Amino acid sequence: MASLDISSVLQGGYQHPLSRTWQAKRTLTKAMLMYPIFITDDPDAHVEISSLPGQCRWGVNKLEEFIGPLVQKGLKSVIIFGVPLKVPKDESGTPADDAEGPVILAIKKLRALYPSLYIATDVCLCEYTSHGHCGILNEDGSINPAPSATRIAEVALAYARAGAHCVAPSDMMDGRIKAIKRALIDAGFGNRCTLMSYSAKFASALYGPFRDAAGSAPSFGDRKCYQLPPQGKGLARRAIQRDVAEGADIIMVKPALPYLDIIQDAAQLASDHPLACYQVSGEYAMVVAGARAGVYDLRTMAFETCESMLRAGCTLILTYFTPQFLDWLDE
Ligand code: PBG
Ligand code: ZN
Repeated sequence: MASLDISSVLQGGYQHPLSRTWQAKRTLTKAMLMYPIFITDDPDAHVEISSLPGQCRWGVNKLEEFIGPLVQKGLKSVIIFGVPLKVPKDESGTPADDAEGPVILAIKKLRALYPSLYIATDVCLCEYTSHGHCGILNEDGSINPAPSATRIAEVALAYARAGAHCVAPSDMMDGRIKAIKRALIDAGFGNRCTLMSYSAKFASALYGPFRDAAGSAPSFGDRKCYQLPPQGKGLARRAIQRDVAEGADIIMVKPALPYLDIIQDAAQLASDHPLACYQVSGEYAMVVAGARAGVYDLRTMAFETCESMLRAGCTLILTYFTPQFLDWLDE
């Protein structure tokens, strides 16, 4: 071994499990995890979602049974998705901000049950529109951005009024961050509600299980005119910078694993903001399916994927693995 140069010898620095942990710039903790949950309008629902193994649609009456044990284990935050199954949907997504709808009821219930739990709400219209698109459409079926942003801001404000700590628009309509921030400020919520923007949200094949779970697949066409093309790195960088300028408090990249370069770009472009990434339904289902097929150990792969996201620069991860990480992590 005399032939090895001094600078060639690295193994001395990571031969011990503890010294290996020091190689990370950032270590996964429970506080970095935000758990996406699906709340439906049957108050007693507890229905498994077949495309998302281990995840269920829950009714508001079951929230204590569902969330209580997780809070006990150290759950710090959730992001709520509404799944209306009973109400009629329309062109403008009227049920989105129904005061008796599942999202607003769930915000209030969770605030009352768990005062320390941070409650974010996804804000979108696709679960509530008759056409299943994320905005308001013109006659010809194209997106009409201005009324879309206005309507989305109205919904976000309703969630803030109900007590959401954070509103997170996932629609990708131009101008919605500015519209929401303005609406929050004008109604006195500027300093009381975080605005987390799904800034770099790509038109991905990985949303399939979610659309199943939330009943939000578009009835015609696709979302390519508002979600970013997967090859669009420059567009993603522009969207991130735009949303910072329009008043986003947190920037998000979504999906996560195929877009680690975008997470890295966002960490540099929005270096003074918290940075979230969303390990989406298809990523989760893929990791679970691979483990079931014997390709790898589930826990090892779940850590490897999330640690890659931290390494790329994110400070917050939305993941369906949250309940398992609460068991796997010490803090
Ligand atoms: C709806 C929305 C989607 C997701 C979050 N909000 C799906 C979509 O854009 O079609 C995906 C989340 C996931 O796949 O876990 N705007
Ligand atoms: Zn949507």
